Amino acid sequence: MAKANLTIRPGGRIGPVERRLFGGFVEHLGRHIYSGIYEPGHPTADADGFRGDVIDLVRELGVSAIRYPGGNFVSGYRWEDGVGPRKERPRRLDLAWHSTETNEVGLHEFSAWLERVDSELMLAINLGTRGVQEALDLLEYCRIRGGTDLSEARRANGRDEPFQARMWCLGNEMDGPWQLGHRNADSYGELAARTARAMRQVDPDLELVVCGSSARSMPTFGHWERTVLRHAYDEVDYISCHAYYEEHDGDAASFLASAVDMDAFIEEVAAIVDEAREAAGSDRTVGISFDEWNVWYMRRFMEQEKITDIEHWPEAPRLLEDRYSVLDAVVFGSLLISLVRHADRVTSASLAQLVNVIAPIMTEPGGPAWRQTTFYPFALTSRLARGEALAVTVECPSVSTERHGDVPAVTAVATRDEGVAAVFAVNRSLGESIEVSVDVASLGATRVGEAHVLSDPDVYAANSLDEPDRVVPRALETRLDGSVLTFTLPPVAWAAVSLEVE
Ligand code: AHR
Repeated sequence: MAKANLTIRPGGRIGPVERRLFGGFVEHLGRHIYSGIYEPGHPTADADGFRGDVIDLVRELGVSAIRYPGGNFVSGYRWEDGVGPRKERPRRLDLAWHSTETNEVGLHEFSAWLERVDSELMLAINLGTRGVQEALDLLEYCRIRGGTDLSEARRANGRDEPFQARMWCLGNEMDGPWQLGHRNADSYGELAARTARAMRQVDPDLELVVCGSSARSMPTFGHWERTVLRHAYDEVDYISCHAYYEEHDGDAASFLASAVDMDAFIEEVAAIVDEAREAAGSDRTVGISFDEWNVWYMRRFMEQEKITDIEHWPEAPRLLEDRYSVLDAVVFGSLLISLVRHADRVTSASLAQLVNVIAPIMTEPGGPAWRQTTFYPFALTSRLARGEALAVTVECPSVSTERHGDVPAVTAVATRDEGVAAVFAVNRSLGESIEVSVDVASLGATRVGEAHVLSDPDVYAANSLDEPDRVVPRALETRLDGSVLTFTLPPVAWAAVSLEVE
């Protein structure tokens, strides 16, 4: 059997694992809100129409901040449509997803839901069809205690206290030609800086995210970040990265190495931030908000026939309802490892998305909710990755891939907190099991706590309405001999092991 020797490096401290690394993203898109989180009349719905089964699963998933309300949707959104008496709220065209938005759920309802799932609000503003004034209006509505037109409107709408929104995204994917109000880098950079300055005049404590590239493969990647940061470095706290991965033409080997691309993306953006910090003469480092990441079969979506005619604007259609396999979940787990490995630079991240839409949680209208395969690596990493991230040295065989060249078969990271530590590892090999030995001497490990593995002889096995528990993690057999932790990873496997430490 192939072997991998891992060492948790003494002194290999990367940085604190921020809770915000385990954030999510809820967009008004397809059935995410309607019949996803909100379904009055559902047997588990509460008095406000929120599905209790979904609330339980989101809590179990362990999601910190949730980005809302888009995504592409936000670039045409008027936040005022979603506040005030429901009966008076307008029905609007959603141009991003060619749908009708009923506005039954808006800021107040979503914030009430967030309290139920114990998550923080991360608001995105519309810089597609709107600008500085509308951003200021929304900020006044959300953050001013009272005594002004918009803060009193909020109070009259039932929310006495300001909303707890600290993190704000200055638009969404403004580099993408598909985005309503798409701009070039100079034009967006200027607008973002101007908007940020104005918003800070209202609330200097906001944490602001400027749009980076919507993919590393964008032709403007690099130039976009440099230009935007030249305009906005001093005004913002984060720059965003977005990345989606999928298996292309049955090339599972390259797909399994997707985290190599995510690693490179993060490191390239971090280098650009360092250059921009120097140019700005700043002693503050802008963080990376990886605020859209996931596996998404985008190509399938692009190739599908879509409703585009002017007569037909469906309400909450089934869109982007990808069904995730074991293979997808293993890639997903390796993306989480990449995020934790870069905890010094990536200090916030949002899994895109949460319910029904490229999501770890699926629902059936009037029926059950269930966990997709990707639910498990997220929930376990969110629960076990605590304290600080630690670098792991990996000596192992490589696997050859068409897209990423030769890559190590195993990728791993560790974390340590008071009295506990955890190791996360992935075997990317399609055919070989790997015996993994981890030198945990630097941790002073005394006992193995939990050990889980996600794998299956059928890498395309998935959960569904009919078979919601077809894929679940199994207990992983481990041995701790002195300072060496040993376990075997089957081909295409993700694992998490927690340890008690001195
Ligand atoms: O998450 C789906 C879409 O992907 C989002 O709306 C957009 O921001 C990105 O292109």
